[in-house]
Order: sequence, then C-alpha cells, then structure tokens
Amino acid sequence: MTEQVRTAINEGIATITLDNPPVNALGAALRGAFMAAFEAAMADPSVRVVILAAAGRTWPAGADIGEFGRPPVAPQLPELCAAVARSAKPVIAALHGTVLGGGLELALAAGVRLAEPGTTLGLPEVSLGILPGAGGTQRLPRLIGAKPALGLMLSGLPIAAERALDLGLIDAVSEGGAATAAEGLARAYLAGTAELPTAAERAGGRAPDAEGWLSAVAAARAGLGNPRLPAPGRIIDCVEAALLLPEDEGFVFEGAAFAELVATPEAAALRHAFLAERRAMRQNDPGRVAAREIHRAGVVGGGPLGAGIAVALLGAGLSVTLVERDQTALAAGLARVATLHERAVEKGRLTPEAREAEWARISGATDFGALATADLIVEAVPEDEALKTQVFADLGRVAKRKAVLATATSHVDLNRLAAASSRPEDVIGLHVLGPVQGTKLLEVVVGAGTAPEVTATGFALAKRLGKIAVRSGVCDGFIGNRVLNAWRTAMDFLLEDGATPCEIDRAMREFGFPLGPYQGLDIAGLDLGWARRKRLSLRRDPARRYVAIGDRLCEAGRFGQKAGKGYYLYPEGGGKGVEDPEVLALIAAERQAKGLVARKVGAEEIRRRALAAMANEGARLLEEGIARCPSDIDVVMLAGGGFPRWRGGPMMAADQAGLLVIRNDLRDFAREEDAFWRPAVIWDELIKNGLAFADLNRI
Ligand code: 3HC
Repeated sequence: MTEQVRTAINEGIATITLDNPPVNALGAALRGAFMAAFEAAMADPSVRVVILAAAGRTWPAGADIGEFGRPPVAPQLPELCAAVARSAKPVIAALHGTVLGGGLELALAAGVRLAEPGTTLGLPEVSLGILPGAGGTQRLPRLIGAKPALGLMLSGLPIAAERALDLGLIDAVSEGGAATAAEGLARAYLAGTAELPTAAERAGGRAPDAEGWLSAVAAARAGLGNPRLPAPGRIIDCVEAALLLPEDEGFVFEGAAFAELVATPEAAALRHAFLAERRAMRQNDPGRVAAREIHRAGVVGGGPLGAGIAVALLGAGLSVTLVERDQTALAAGLARVATLHERAVEKGRLTPEAREAEWARISGATDFGALATADLIVEAVPEDEALKTQVFADLGRVAKRKAVLATATSHVDLNRLAAASSRPEDVIGLHVLGPVQGTKLLEVVVGAGTAPEVTATGFALAKRLGKIAVRSGVCDGFIGNRVLNAWRTAMDFLLEDGATPCEIDRAMREFGFPLGPYQGLDIAGLDLGWARRKRLSLRRDPARRYVAIGDRLCEAGRFGQKAGKGYYLYPEGGGKGVEDPEVLALIAAERQAKGLVARKVGAEEIRRRALAAMANEGARLLEEGIARCPSDIDVVMLAGGGFPRWRGGPMMAADQAGLLVIRNDLRDFAREEDAFWRPAVIWDELIKNGLAFADLNRI
C-alpha cells in the first residue's frame, strides 16, 4: 500500500500530496498522516510555502461517508482545517477533479485556491442530511457572501471552476495543472514578485454587509421545504451564526449542529442510500470480467417502450436500428422517437443540434437482417410470450456472434426467451420501471445462463445511460414490481376494510411518497394491470383474498387520468383528482358483497401495513435469491418506486422501525390473510441472531 500522504520539499516549498484512491476521501488514516505532515512542514524552518495537492483523479471528495455513525477518530476534519487556517506560512490548495464536502472545506482553510479547468466544487452535505461540519458554513459565507454560500449549501449542487472563480471561491483557473501553477506562484512569491497571503491575512479587515447577510438568511428561511428534513434549517442557522457570533463560537455552533444532524435517522437513511447505490452498481462476478463493447444497437418494437429505449440509446451515443413488423408500424415508431426528441428540446434537455446529430444515427427496418451488425439488440414488443419467443428465436439466428440480446419484458420468463434464442449466455433483461426517460432505475435481469461479461455489459450500459442499475434474478415483475404490487395489495385490503383512496394516498404522502398508490395508478392507467389480471385469472389461487375494486373501475370505463376518471375524478381532464362519491359507492358495494363491515382505518395503520407489506416482499425476494442484498431492494424503491430517500428504502426503514415490531405486525395481520402476510423465514433468523437487514449488505 502506498503512503496516503507524501511530502516533497524543494527550495523552500513543501508539497503535501494526498493519495487515498479512489476519491481521496478524508478518512482517519489520511487525516492522521496529513496532520503529521502539515505540522512537520510548519516546524521545518526551511519550508516557507506549503502546497496542498492530491494524487489520482480528484482532490478529496469529502469526509469518508463510511465513517459516519461510528465513534469519531482524532484528528478530526475541523482540527485539520483549523491547523491549515492558522498557518503562519502561506498555504496554496491546488485543486482538481471533484472538490466536494470536507474536501472543499479543507481548501477553504487555505490562503489561496487554484483549480484546473474541468474542476467542480460543491458542498453536497445537505443531500446526506448533514451540513458542512469542518468550518464550511462559517468560512464560505465570509469568503463569497451569505447568499451564494446558502445557494451552494442548500442545493448541494456542484459548480464549475469558472463559476467558482466569478464567485471568489477560488483565485484562479490554471491551465497546465493546478499543482504546477501552485508551484509557479510559490516560486514567484519566494522571488518577491507575487503576493501570497495566509488565510488569516485574507480574512482580516473586511466588514461583512450585515443587512444583505441577514436578508439572505431570512429569504432562505422563508423558502424552506420539507419540515421533516432538519439539515437545511440548521445550515441557515449556521450561516446566521457566522455573522452574529465571534469566529470561534461560530465554529462551535456549527460543530454542535453537525453532531446533532449526523445522528438523526434521516441522515443515516440518506448515507445508506448513497452507499447502497454504489453497492448496487458494484459487481462481484469472479475476476471482474470486462463488459462487451457496444457501438451499434437494435431495438425491436417501436411502441412507447421501444421508442423510449431507442431515444435513451441514441442519447448515450449509440447508433440505433429500429425494427418493426411493417412500414406503417415503423413510421409510427420513428414518429414516437421524433416526438420524444421534440419534447426533450422543448424542455431544454437536448439542443436542436444534438437532436439532429442523434436523428442522423437512427435508421429503420422491417427485416431482422438489418440487425446483423448490432452489438446489442433490445426486444421491446408487446407482453405476449409467444411473440417474444418468436423474436428471440429469430434474433438467435440473425444476430452476430457475441451480440448481447436483451429483453425489456416485465413479466415473461427470461430463461424461456433465452432458451428460444439458443444462446442463453448472450441474453439479459433490461427492465425500466416506468417511462424510460423519467426513471433513473434500470433492473438488470440475469438469467440462469447469462454470461458474466453480458451482465457486466448491462451494468456498463446503465452507467452510459445515466441510470442506476440493480441486479435482479428472474421472476414475475422483478424486484420493483414485486414490492410495489405487495404494497398495492395491502392497500387494496384496506380499501375493502373501510379506508378511502384519498385517506390511503394522504397517509403515504405524509410518509414521504410524492404520490399515493391510487394517484400513481390513475396516472399510469388502470387498464394495463386489468389486462394482466385477466390473463392470470385462471392461475389465481381462489383461497387467497382478492380485491376486485380495480377491475370494477375498469369495467366502468374508469381507466385513470386519461379517461377523466379512475380512483379519482378529473373534472379538468388531468391534474389533481377529486374524491368521487361513485367510487366510494363502488367500494362500499364490493365490501358488502363480501359481507365485510367498514371499520375505521387510521393513517398510522395504513403506513404500518404499507411498510410491513413492502419489507416482507423484500424479505421473500432475498430468500428466493432474486435480490442480492437488502440494499439493492432499497435502491430499486428509491430510484424507481418513489420511496422517500430520507427513509432509506423499505429494508432500511424496517431496520429503523425494528425487525421485531414489524415481524409481530406481520404475524398479527397474517391472522386475517395468511398467504399474503405470513412473515418470511428470514425475519426470525435475523431476530434470533440479533442482526438487521443492514448486516446482509456485504457485497
Ligand atoms: N466517502 C467514502 N467513499 C466515497 C466517497 C466519500 N465521501 N465518495 C465516493 N466514495 C466511493 C464510492 O462509494 C465508490 O466506492 P466503490 O468504488 O467501492 O463503489 C467510489 O468512491 C467511487 O465513487 P462513485 O462510484 O460515486 O464514482 P463517480 O466517479 O461516479 O463519482 C464523486 C465520484 C462525484 C466523488 C461521487 O462519489 C460523490 O458525489 N461522492 C460523495 C461526495 C460527498 O457527498 N462528499 C461529502 C461527504 S460529507 C462531508 O464531507 C462532511 C464534512 O462536511 C464534515
């Protein structure tokens, strides 16, 4: 292992280089080594200027997120920053890559900051439910003013070096490498031809604009959003304190706010979400096989799904051949692609020039022969097993050797399609939960015979598409739909028991979902699920409780928003629905037909049952080996299911609620309907061993 911190001293200049791949996170070992190196440079009389630089792809991207929640190890980041800030010798921070969080705070402690072109800088702590806790809330507003500082800290979004220069956050954007530029500046200083202030010299003597500062604080307070998330409010408090309190007390104030936030369940959930997304993208296939190269793609089927996939592939720089069964269907498919492009241009997501370039990379065909040179072929024909089987048999014949054959199916058994292709090693599922352009999630479905390099290709493709990929085994609906369906089933039981769609949706919005399940169904359209339920009706176990309210709504032509009515009524044709007495009467009739008596269902019960249903389905997915680990299920529900990020996903939320509590709930509910609510075996195993779902997140 290389040293995490190296010092090179040359003609009065000490260059301290941090080297902790991949992102130079400021972990305990690095902090200890840095402090020692910095103190040595301070004590060495031959050293007159210190340059701080980083090896590898980036200047530190922040504190080590994995260390939060564990006992703190000295020296802590605020101490490092304080040591740099009080240095009697000038310190230059030479920045490159992603200068984020504690990394930016370390840079803020230096007297001078230089950045390479392409560097981005930001304070993303708010997205982790915390605040910049190493002096950032105090030093940043003093350096650039309260308003832009609040903007950076409350959005959490990074800015480019050029913008940072405009704001006064850095002192120069230096071509030819920040470290080289820093060295040039240090030499000029030593030669007496350039000034190089220390941080203390720079900070002194400037009186802040108190009125502007306080009005920025007031405006930020007035704009605060979700009251369940405490971090934004505390950031504003800290910025106010930076004006009102003496410097040392300001740091103490920030430290206390940081300690308070880092211990909240919201912050734990947001950290979990960050790490879970990275874990989901990490593959543990033996030998970490390389992905196949993908340049040319084919898409079979030009319906809404196929067209959406084609647009996504074009956006990732691939050339695409769209295949349809005849010229009319092909023209309609290409028209859908054009419409999606048009919408992207209107929304400013695509420039007209980029659209032209993408359009030049798409071609159409009515013959599978046009796919003979494709590296990747995605099947997106309607959900009809016979049709899909035929497509895979044809693709098996025409596709070139080592082409990846993907299906976008939600329900058809991937292994059967793989068998039909006669090359199961090349077959994979790429499942998008929702509209392709609007969903961050891609479920990469790995079949029994899928080759590891094909799996790796699915993950590499997801990265190119800007999506978060989660590996799923083969089952009906994959991870996302299985959990969402369990949630909806539990909620349907409650409808029949006495709750209204409005009460259920409100309870789930209060939990943090952007939409309740019935609002979601109305937007997606009720007919899709209805068609599927009809297809599966013969296979349904008659002993299981079946709620037919959704079917009755469809029979009455209530297909959701597009029909002007579904679970709600849409007098305006769209937008926000209103409660419809007709629906309540229909629910009451269903209840009566089953001999049930309406009971009062409170919001708390709705949320308890929702979480128990989702987490229990997650537990089953783990037992069946469909999901690799609990956090993969969380990622699916965060990125594709609308689960509130600050609750970390259903498995994390189950851990936070307590496994025993939820297992006992499940046992209680199972007395009403055993087949649905029976707790998966894993609950007892975890409880018996004193473990939580988080203990299974080891990939
Ligand atoms: N701590 C620990 N690990 C980190 C990390 C961090 N701050 N940032 C990234 N990593 C790890 C990732 O988990 C991943 O690990 P893996 O390879 O084992 O899966 C690896 O570094 C590479 O990360 P990405 O896959 O995300 O790589 P990208 O190139 O896509 O993105 C990045 C790089 C922009 C730096 C992105 O990782 C990122 O945004 N990191 C988080 C930055 C952040 O939130 N910093 C603030 C931390 S909180 C803080 O500093 C508190 C302070 O105020 C006291």
